[in-house]
Amino acid sequence: MKYKSIGRTGIKVSELCFGAMFFGGDADEETSKALYERCLDAGINFFDTADMYSHGRSEEILGKLMKGQREDLVITSKVFFPTSKTPRINDRGLSRKHILTSIDASLKRLDTDYIDFYILHYFDPSTDIELTLRTLDDLQKQGKILYSGVSNWAAWQIMDALGISERELLGRFEIMEPLYNLAKRQSEVELLPLAESKNIGVIPYSPLGAGLLTGKYGTAKQPDSGRLVDSELNRLRYQDDLELADRFTAFSQKLSVSPATLAVAWAKSHPAVTAPIIGARNLAQLDASLAATDFEVTPELRAEISSLSLAPEPATGRSEEKTLGQFSMLQK
Ligand SMILES: NC(=O)c1ccc[n+]([C@@H]2O[C@H](COP(=O)([O-])OP(=O)(O)OC[C@H]3O[C@@H](n4cnc5c(N)ncnc54)[C@H](OP(=O)(O)O)[C@@H]3O)[C@@H](O)[C@H]2O)c1
Repeated sequence: MKYKSIGRTGIKVSELCFGAMFFGGDADEETSKALYERCLDAGINFFDTADMYSHGRSEEILGKLMKGQREDLVITSKVFFPTSKTPRINDRGLSRKHILTSIDASLKRLDTDYIDFYILHYFDPSTDIELTLRTLDDLQKQGKILYSGVSNWAAWQIMDALGISERELLGRFEIMEPLYNLAKRQSEVELLPLAESKNIGVIPYSPLGAGLLTGKYGTAKQPDSGRLVDSELNRLRYQDDLELADRFTAFSQKLSVSPATLAVAWAKSHPAVTAPIIGARNLAQLDASLAATDFEVTPELRAEISSLSLAPEPATGRSEEKTLGQFSMLQK
């Protein structure tokens, strides 16, 4: 396992992060323990959770598992979505009230004094960004979090926040958690260049497209159960990508590598990425993702794999410039 610094923080993490989203849900305590231990054996020291995963059970189980090992681990948790089973009006969003209540509940469930990276799970249009940043800064000063981060925000929203942090001398986002896989490459346009430019760590989620890129989906095949079958959200998200799944599976077969291994290795090979967050419901699935640590994706191979899906349009919309000699002066 290789280790990398998260952005400019100096905190070293394994080049794969394990996502504990299924702990206490699809993975019972025993399976969660087996997954956690396999991760440690492989050298993973980095775990991602959120307060809303399995209504808090994911944090509770991770808290139990990391007993006695806390200082050797780097963990994230997130705030935004409700954790209560019955909706309560203020159990959501990025208000000071919700964040201050949520952090204490997360720390209790995780049975720890601090969270390394506390991540805003979604953008909240009803809370002023500066008020949220002031709350996070207070948590940093109290030692309840080491750093803050952000997930599922647009680049302009993150830049807005970075500007406020700088102006007001508040702690800034040191990590971002975007959706990124061969079918969903939007973050290549703005988020990943922003992260490189500002030296922010990047932990992309869903490197397998929730199972799309594991070889079991295609235009003519679908398992009886699985995230793309059972979850409406994932079905909708990847409904137009089954031909890509065919092409990707065929390409992996040519290389004699498991599609899951190749998909994680591809996500990891973007220069802005610190550690993709891998997800698995059992040990067999986990091993295929862990194998990505030993699979090198050279820039040439990355280009070949990338050509299997459509590259997203540049932010300016001027994609033709890349092919016209008169614009070569615009390149670095
Ligand atoms: N910040 C956010 O908004 C956000 C959102 C989503 C996830 N996350 C984080 O990212 C982590 C990973 O996300 P993800 O679960 O969407 O990742 P993913 O890597 O795209 O998908 C993992 C899923 O693919 C299937 N799979 C995995 N390995 C396989 C294999 N070898 N063969 C066949 N199927 C395989 C399993 O689902 P089936 O068995 O059902 O097919 C597994 O649950 C989560 O645990 C969470 O920590 C964050």
